[in-house]
Amino acid sequence: MAVKTLQNLLDEGVEGRGVLVRSDLNVPIDNGTITDPGRIIASVPTIKALVEAGAKVVVTAHLGRPKGAPDPAFSLAPVAARLSEELGRNVQLAGDVVGGDALARSEGLTDGDVLLLENIRFDARETSKDEAERTKLAKALVELVGDDGAFVSDGFGVVHRKQASVYDVAKLLPSYAGNLVATEVDVLAKLTEEPARPYAVVLGGSKVSDKLAVIEALAPQVDTLVIGGGMCFTFFAAQGYSVGNSLKQDEMIDTCKDLLDRFADVIHLPKDVVVADSFSADAEAKVVASHQIPDGWMGLDIGPESTKRFSAVLGAAKTIFWNGPMGVFEFEKFADGTRGVAEAIAGATAKGAFSVVGGGDSAAAVRSLGLPDDGFSHISTGGGASLEYLEGKELPGITALEGTA
Ligand code: 3PG
Ligand code: MG
Repeated sequence: MAVKTLQNLLDEGVEGRGVLVRSDLNVPIDNGTITDPGRIIASVPTIKALVEAGAKVVVTAHLGRPKGAPDPAFSLAPVAARLSEELGRNVQLAGDVVGGDALARSEGLTDGDVLLLENIRFDARETSKDEAERTKLAKALVELVGDDGAFVSDGFGVVHRKQASVYDVAKLLPSYAGNLVATEVDVLAKLTEEPARPYAVVLGGSKVSDKLAVIEALAPQVDTLVIGGGMCFTFFAAQGYSVGNSLKQDEMIDTCKDLLDRFADVIHLPKDVVVADSFSADAEAKVVASHQIPDGWMGLDIGPESTKRFSAVLGAAKTIFWNGPMGVFEFEKFADGTRGVAEAIAGATAKGAFSVVGGGDSAAAVRSLGLPDDGFSHISTGGGASLEYLEGKELPGITALEGTA
């Protein structure tokens, strides 16, 4: 990508300049506690480099999907506290997005200070379809860093969104790719440009409809496409199996049939599954063949035989991309498939394979199962963004930076 980078900005000099950074700090929060700080930690290097170079740093980010108005449940307050800890310096939180408090605080910044704006999605213009509306918000953001300000785009997880703080603001200020965005794009480019073979992709998660485009794009390019998670039941239904109470998207059955016809030699489905009598951590569970799911039962994980087969394929792969858990890993009884696949990928990585874990859920699975981050070549901070990149779609947050170098 022909874009200017953070290093270019640092070379130009930022001491005393206002720099607006778009980060993706959208972390899972349970009762006020951050359960996976991965995205905050990944955002630190860019912010730190700017702080150390003496910039007045204004960070903007979203949390969840509030409805375009302030909502305390989606406040970035816990994120500001954690970012302070990770950065080792105080991060102020503005009480609003681009209002009086944000403006006053930005004017009070001295060199090396960091101000985090309140959740950018508290302002309905952020996600507006109307470009003029988005531009108004982008202009208000520009005001916070002043006329000689700069914009650093570092929220990789959100670059697939055409939103004011991601896309429109890049047209108003000199713009640069932050370290995280640059690294993520480099890694994903390696998957698309002559990947070492065999190349295996593992897809899980609940909905076929979410993964359809990436299946279509990747199936012709890869040697193996392993499909697990909730979406495998729609494929089973396409094969004519009855799936009991398992998740199933009826409107996708024909599409799954067509995919199985066209990519029979590439797609691997589980041969056995763990079924449960209810969706709960302490449900009664048993292993059955994929074509023998009893009425009244639901599949919540891939079975041990499938984990073994998938692990063998993955163990031989030289390039691996994984998105989506194999089962309901949040319940210990149904975590074995995801754990087994993760361990097989880590094992292949230890033998020299290049592995990328994409997506918030898969990254959270890796961490909650106690696997070390460095068992994989790269854990992406972007779920939707990494999938859209691999689908070959344009990413507005990247397009907006192009032509800067
Ligand atoms: C994510 O969690 O996928 C990113 O932060 C983007 O969030 P969004 O899907 O709500 O746009
Ligand atoms: Mg998302």
